[in-house]
Amino acid sequence: MIRLENIEKEFDLGQIKIKALDNINLTINRGDYLAVMGPSGSGKSTFLNILGILDFSTSGQYFLEDYEISSLPDKEQARIRNKHFGFVFQSFNLFSELSAIENVMLPMSYAGVKYNARKKRAGELLDWLGLNDRLYHLPSMLSGGEQQRVAIARALSNDPDLILADEPTGNLPSDKGEEILETLEKLNSNGVTIVMVTHNDAQGDRAHKRIHIKDGKIEWRKVCA
Ligand SMILES: Nc1ncnc2c1ncn2[C@@H]1O[C@H](COP(=O)(O)OP(=O)(O)OP(=O)(O)O)[C@@H](O)[C@H]1O
Ligand SMILES: [Mg+2]
Repeated sequence: MIRLENIEKEFDLGQIKIKALDNINLTINRGDYLAVMGPSGSGKSTFLNILGILDFSTSGQYFLEDYEISSLPDKEQARIRNKHFGFVFQSFNLFSELSAIENVMLPMSYAGVKYNARKKRAGELLDWLGLNDRLYHLPSMLSGGEQQRVAIARALSNDPDLILADEPTGNLPSDKGEEILETLEKLNSNGVTIVMVTHNDAQGDRAHKRIHIKDGKIEWRKVCA
């Protein structure tokens, strides 16, 4: 599905340059469940942003299927991001002035889905995530776990092939975190590819593959049985 070759990312801050990623080589297959681990500042979020085409490497190549991402026009990159990728962030990133259902409907409107179809799908996703009585709540009226479930519903709205999650349980108490993890694992068993950044060893152990990043390099990798 994805092949990364010699990916490097350097942040140029004028006086200093920070090499956030260095010589990253990795293949992600369809259906993988990959945990990305490593200390704070090691480059995990930078890696996820590049994988999600939210940012670009300074050198190296990123192949999605057989397309080299940086050679594609901006519009095509945006279409891939919207249609094929779903993002779940540590801090949920919901629009505070939009209700739960409107937040979930938004990516579908960018994808050109008609209003009634958007509303139906958003309602079904929120129902699936146990939020059928919270459709018209604003994020501020929802608990952290509920907000993260809305964010997952939003990530799923365009039926993505790949979910990129940056510490999706980081801001949740452990029982709520467990619910989110089980939801991601249920999606993975339905064939959705999951790449999840986590600080939590027990969570990392549940993934089928693990990479450990240190100082921007893959320090070690492990494939679990
Ligand atoms: N936009 C930026 N400009 C400059 N430096 C950056 C930028 N984003 C990240 N960095 C630097 O790149 C390095 C990697 O950051 P990154 O956010 O990827 O770490 P991380 O592994 O996700 O850490 P954490 O676990 O704390 O979230 C850090 O040294 C960080 O300060
Ligand atoms: Mg991070």
